[in-house]
Amino acid sequence: MAVKNIQSVCCIGAGYVGGPTMAVIADNCPNINITIVDLNKERIDLWNSDDVTKIPIFEPGLQKIIKKVRNRNLFFTTEIANSIKNADMVFISVNTPTKTKGIGAGRASDISWVEACTRQVARYATGETIVVEKSTIPVRTAEAVKTILKNNSKKNPSKEGCSFSVLSNPEFLAEGTAIKDLQNPDRILIGGDDELSIQALKNIYLNWVSEEKVITTNLWSSELSKLTANAFLAQRISSINSISALCEVTGADINEVKKAIGLDTRIGQKFLNAGPGFGGSCFKKDILNLTYLCQHFGLPEVSSYWEQVVSINDWQTYRIYKMVINKLFGNVTNKKIAILGFAFKADTNDTRESPAIFICKELLVEGAFLTIHDPKVNESQIDIDLGEVGQENRSNWSYSDDLLKTYDNCDAIIILTEWEEYKKINWDFVSNKMNSPSWVFDTRKIVSPEEVKNYDFNFWQVGLGNNI
Ligand code: UDX
Ligand code: ADP
Repeated sequence: MAVKNIQSVCCIGAGYVGGPTMAVIADNCPNINITIVDLNKERIDLWNSDDVTKIPIFEPGLQKIIKKVRNRNLFFTTEIANSIKNADMVFISVNTPTKTKGIGAGRASDISWVEACTRQVARYATGETIVVEKSTIPVRTAEAVKTILKNNSKKNPSKEGCSFSVLSNPEFLAEGTAIKDLQNPDRILIGGDDELSIQALKNIYLNWVSEEKVITTNLWSSELSKLTANAFLAQRISSINSISALCEVTGADINEVKKAIGLDTRIGQKFLNAGPGFGGSCFKKDILNLTYLCQHFGLPEVSSYWEQVVSINDWQTYRIYKMVINKLFGNVTNKKIAILGFAFKADTNDTRESPAIFICKELLVEGAFLTIHDPKVNESQIDIDLGEVGQENRSNWSYSDDLLKTYDNCDAIIILTEWEEYKKINWDFVSNKMNSPSWVFDTRKIVSPEEVKNYDFNFWQVGLGNNI
């Protein structure tokens, strides 16, 4: 048997992982035809918009690649059956949210979408098909995928000569830097037991990634490495956030502590920014999944160790919200608050698990008037995220697409996302627009305290000691 030369790829799921990942593969492998399928027609239509600025995901550098490869060797469609039929390799890149009901609710990942599309692969695939798990999934999902493929392929009309192998190839891209991360990854991880399939996938990456960066493991190590990487990264943020609280009461400055500890090469400078708590679709979900796994395998101590990372994160968001209320004399009723940033981090339009959602909802419940600005998140997404609380208080919040008009007559400004344009705010202009007394709360540490100390507003910054 020879290594299969992959010519046709199908990716199921046109989301934050599937879209950018396939765009970069298409760009680097002009000889491979890639079709991304999704059951969400509206999303697929947006990916196919003539106006490339309308694609559903904002990611620096993505529009340029889409312009180049779309309808050349990258196609977006809702035609799942045909796309699977024509594929030598199928990537599963669907969402795996935390389960909301049943066994493991609130912790375990819901793999119903993975299951559903695996059944479709089993049904429509022809010939030898390599199935690659891209979604972050619970450890041992590959086993379930294999079983489903085996049992369901009985219904496949071309089942004679139809065979499958399953690989795990977790994606480590971070939103906001996805294209850079995909073009120049720290490593590519491939888990599996079929050498020829591993080599076939490896050959795709070797078009632009050097061989020493591609590591192979068994399936379970690969699946567990993804959960562990996210747990370690999230742990760093909870660690620095916990110390930020201590800095504020002792007079230390978290940036000075960060620099001092980060110069120890064993610790390193990266991923040590204090903030309002981590958001995003992965960290919380993956840690909860890890804790569920530990409970399941009889390791409650390990489970509660990792659970603390999530608890500290929730606490950080809560303590910042409580501090805002306290500084505004325990009362925000009818006060106007400008919210700068709704995305969970800069350079993305993604709001999943964004700390802004919790903070805005609580402020609305307390009776505040909010003007919410974000350079990339639109009003309808904010409306969805604020849910019932947003609906019940619809006249208490408005969306602003003009930063300069966001501050008018406000009693406080809360910076929640570290967008570049918030780093360049003209505080002289802002101080003239705000009521007096007023507050600026910088939860991302992007404003220089020196620069604002002489203006007519009070200033609070995360992790800054002697905050008054
Ligand atoms: C993360 C992982 O980084 C990535 O490898 C994995 O594939 C998916 O999950 P992502 O959630 O897109 O990526 O963004 P990331 O940059 O990790 O940020 C996650 C959250 O942590 C954001 O809310 C961010 O603001 C916060 N963060 C990050 C901090 O508060 N401080 C930091 O120093 C870094
Ligand atoms: P991620 O951040 O992991 O990429 P997203 O939610 O952004 O997650 O994207 C996942 C996509 O997968 C969604 O667009 C969803 O409609 C799609 N999807 C889920 N289940 C299926 C399925 N069975 N067939 C096709 N697409 C699916």
